[in-house]
Amino acid sequence: MYPNSKLRLVDVSKTFSTVNGGFTALSSLSMDVSPGRFVSLIGPSGCGKSTLFNIIAGLETPSTGRIEIDGENLTGLIGRVGYMLQKDLLLPWRTVIDNIVLGMEIQGMSRKDARDKARPYLKRYGLGDFETQFPSALSGGMRQRAALLRTLLLDNDVILLDEPFGALDAQTKAQMQEWLLNIWEDFGKTVVFVTHDIEESIYLSDEICVMGTRPGRLIERISVPMARPRPRSVVTQTSFVELKQRCMDLLNEPHHEPPRVAAE
Ligand SMILES: Nc1ncnc2c1ncn2[C@@H]1O[C@H](COP(=O)(O)OP(=O)(O)OP(=O)(O)O)[C@@H](O)[C@H]1O
Ligand SMILES: [Mg+2]
Repeated sequence: MYPNSKLRLVDVSKTFSTVNGGFTALSSLSMDVSPGRFVSLIGPSGCGKSTLFNIIAGLETPSTGRIEIDGENLTGLIGRVGYMLQKDLLLPWRTVIDNIVLGMEIQGMSRKDARDKARPYLKRYGLGDFETQFPSALSGGMRQRAALLRTLLLDNDVILLDEPFGALDAQTKAQMQEWLLNIWEDFGKTVVFVTHDIEESIYLSDEICVMGTRPGRLIERISVPMARPRPRSVVTQTSFVELKQRCMDLLNEPHHEPPRVAAE
């Protein structure tokens, strides 16, 4: 039993049917995330991170297993987690504030109430001057902030973020990481965060889940013990460097190699 688990994945697997037959993207993956934790998911491209998020969000059904939030089986149900996809998907014909309130409107809130709720956050997070502008007026970092705010303002306590800062330059990325940590503390959400950047995953997380591929599965869970708030210089500490090396070793282990094809 895991009485203190916010999000629980039990034996989740996914096999897609393809022209070449069944393809197992995820195999028997189980994990628990405690309330209010910041957990990163790292793993090679194609190991099933986005597929797992789609399953948690109810957009895909697993071939086996189940998803629980607060002990309730939510497998295949949509709308119970906030989900920011790999692309920011701001609608160009909606103003910045109306993009940010979109999720709340979909959840049934009136646009006026949703705007009233969003406005203080726009100001607080540096988007106040852009409220009535369209997304084309925003920089890459601002777009990501708007998409993140849209996700975080939803009335869900579990948030899935799929590589939200993947396309940003190093300086903007560092600013966005600080911004996300502040907002995570403000909102008290449980966050699962996908990244390809090992340093980013260590800097942000309480825990790192390392996935392997062929088939996609969880190979290791690593706790990040450094106290918060973490100074930027934490990346030079021995414990940080050792964690980074351990993650790199796990990602480079030979079990990620494609299986050899038997000689005919
Ligand atoms: N609808 C689908 N039909 C068939 N195969 C799929 C489908 N969706 C995903 N896959 C396959 O499942 C595997 C996992 O894909 P997924 O997008 O989850 O990987 P990922 O870990 O998010 O990769 P990346 O880091 O590149 O974003 C890939 O091999 C992909 O080709
Ligand atoms: Mg992906």
